[in-house]
Amino acid sequence: MDERVAANRVVWEQASAKHVREYDELLAQARDGELFPREVSLLAPVLADGPLVVHFQSGHGVDDTALVRAGARQVVGVDYSSVAATAAQRRAVDLGSPCRYLVAEVPGVPVRDGCADLVYTGKGALIWMRDLDAWARDAARVLRPGGSLFVYEAHPAVPLWSWDADEPRIRADRSYFADSHVNDSFPGNGAREWQWNLGQIVTAITQAGLRLDVLEEYAEPFWRPADGTAAAAWSGRLPNAYALLAHK
Ligand SMILES: C[S@@+](CC[C@H](N)C(=O)[O-])C[C@H]1O[C@@H](n2cnc3c(N)ncnc32)[C@H](O)[C@@H]1O
Repeated sequence: MDERVAANRVVWEQASAKHVREYDELLAQARDGELFPREVSLLAPVLADGPLVVHFQSGHGVDDTALVRAGARQVVGVDYSSVAATAAQRRAVDLGSPCRYLVAEVPGVPVRDGCADLVYTGKGALIWMRDLDAWARDAARVLRPGGSLFVYEAHPAVPLWSWDADEPRIRADRSYFADSHVNDSFPGNGAREWQWNLGQIVTAITQAGLRLDVLEEYAEPFWRPADGTAAAAWSGRLPNAYALLAHK
């Protein structure tokens, strides 16, 4: 494993302890939570067929039980944090949800070629990929012909936005075209995040042999801090998230 990926993994094992400390809250979210409405509408044709889903970087797994309630027949979550995967597995068992979890690095997901109807990922996933081309090739490998890749992710411009409440500002220490930066907020605090711009993301996916169906940008971030922080950058004028759907 790349040295910096290994260092980030240590950070994630520590950060994922939250999934154990807040087990009951996350269990309630896993029981009742839903995907974003736009995820549901974009994925509706795929979910209607009862897909087998492989979730790259499944984290707390709350989206997995939501995918099952939305129609998935089974979800295989893959995350290199054993703390996260173990807690997600326990929640799925508690809820009787057909989700199982593998502790493994992405890319290099230990499932057989062509097994998945849908590869689902995002919400803080791509920034941890050291090699985006290898990531895209792994997603394409895992998908059956006709299968779909779905990404719902922070917009690549987000590292530029300050969290000022009065008006949006561009951080002087960041560049859209930098290859990485050190995260200075929860949960990845201290970890190195890689930056992939929209051009690099689309190019990696298409060069892996997938065809792009949808690319949408949104003003609303996929996540807001629980303490009520509301940056002016999230007020509707700037891109904060995107969704991408492609097929093999
Ligand atoms: C911000 S979380 C998002 C995960 C998920 N979407 C969620 O909402 O919980 C990022 C996850 O990626 C995992 N991760 C980061 N880099 C990884 C890698 N190279 N291979 C596998 N998992 C990784 C971390 O352990 C963490 O659980």
